[in-house]
Amino acid sequence: MQKLNSKVTDELNFFEGNDPYKLAEEFGTPLYVYNERILRQRCREMKNLVSYENFSVNYSAKANSNLAFLEIVNEEGLNVDAMSPGEIYTELKAGFKPEQIFYISNNVSEEEMRFAIDRDILMSVDSLAQLEQYGKLNPGGKIAARFNGGIGAGHHEKVITAGKKTKFAINPEYIPEFKAIIKKYNLDLVGINQHIGSLFMDGEKYIEGVKAILNIAKQFENIKFVDLGGGFGIPYEKQASQPRLDLKSLSAMLDEVFESFANEYGERITFKIEPGRYISAECGLILGKITAVKYNASHKFAGTDIGFNVLQRPIMYDSHHDIEIYRQSDFKSDKQEEITVVGNICESGDILAKDRVLPEIVTGDMIAVLDAGAYGYSMCSNYNNRLRPAEVLIRENGSAILIRKRDCLEDLVSHFISIKA
Ligand code: LLP
Repeated sequence: MQKLNSKVTDELNFFEGNDPYKLAEEFGTPLYVYNERILRQRCREMKNLVSYENFSVNYSAKANSNLAFLEIVNEEGLNVDAMSPGEIYTELKAGFKPEQIFYISNNVSEEEMRFAIDRDILMSVDSLAQLEQYGKLNPGGKIAARFNGGIGAGHHEKVITAGKKTKFAINPEYIPEFKAIIKKYNLDLVGINQHIGSLFMDGEKYIEGVKAILNIAKQFENIKFVDLGGGFGIPYEKQASQPRLDLKSLSAMLDEVFESFANEYGERITFKIEPGRYISAECGLILGKITAVKYNASHKFAGTDIGFNVLQRPIMYDSHHDIEIYRQSDFKSDKQEEITVVGNICESGDILAKDRVLPEIVTGDMIAVLDAGAYGYSMCSNYNNRLRPAEVLIRENGSAILIRKRDCLEDLVSHFISIKA
């Protein structure tokens, strides 16, 4: 097999000796493939981020909530956040205890609040209206709240979650009303949290956000924790040698801020972070087939079986994912050419990579779409009644095991109720 453009997976030994064509033969394509060693390594990097002792890493399961994946994260000693009853349910199944789960809610119904309360899972509310709703349901209960420190960051406006233009969190100007509701229902405010947005590569911005939320924290007595949110970025342009997030300098800055807060507050409270992407993105890729190569006028297209039902990030945020090419045929070429790599969905926006310079691609090649472990499968759909792919885990001993079955045609109709008797 020829591997082209494959510096990234070669250096990582991503496939641990497995042949991508054999994986495709055994499990079909498109196929999500995860490397367990890299996943565990990322968990450990986050767990050891700071020296401050009361520190908790809550993996943000929305990035990838595969059960086996969560079981590994649990084995690594991380906690988790949840965004829905469905995530809570899956996390409990994966072995997390209720006290390890932090439910960060946004505009949820009474039933959803009940779901968390009945299971003794701490939740965070992010509006006065939701605090009021919680107080009625669980007077005297423990609660956390999400505040907007005014600093937002992220790779796209759709994922910036603090600052003036966001639906999230409580603005600090409402703290007096907030405190009144806490008092009215005799609630115990145990912590506050924020999330400034997703994907920063510059630690300075995160620290600015941390300082802002800590200023808010000082306005509350006896809180046990401050949760600083996620957003830790990964380099999606590794083939162009994009540098990694500088964890060392981030760690030093965090330790300094934590120590100074603890001194001033008089309590060594717990600090939590909620990385999703950093933990899960780089241990995952998608294998797909080149099903057709063609020209439209002078524009060259490579068609694949990876439509935007399989990976939404490019159509949703214009996100870049590096692409590698694997070839079983004897075709040889040194040519690099500009090509647009597309999927099989009936929309023109179904583009994986636009005008990308890649080694010449021919029908029958396979591609790997890199860094797809976060917000990849978790955002898959059945659009066009396509089957969601299977997921495979390459274990540390090199064996490749199925951790989610591919949808089958029956799955597509199993929830319908026919109007014919
Ligand atoms: N905590 C909260 C409250 C969040 O809303 C999120 C992400 C995270 C933590 C984790 O953020 P991370 O560390 O993964 O950046 N679908 C988008 C990303 C959406 C992020 C939503 N919230 C993407 O594919 O880029």
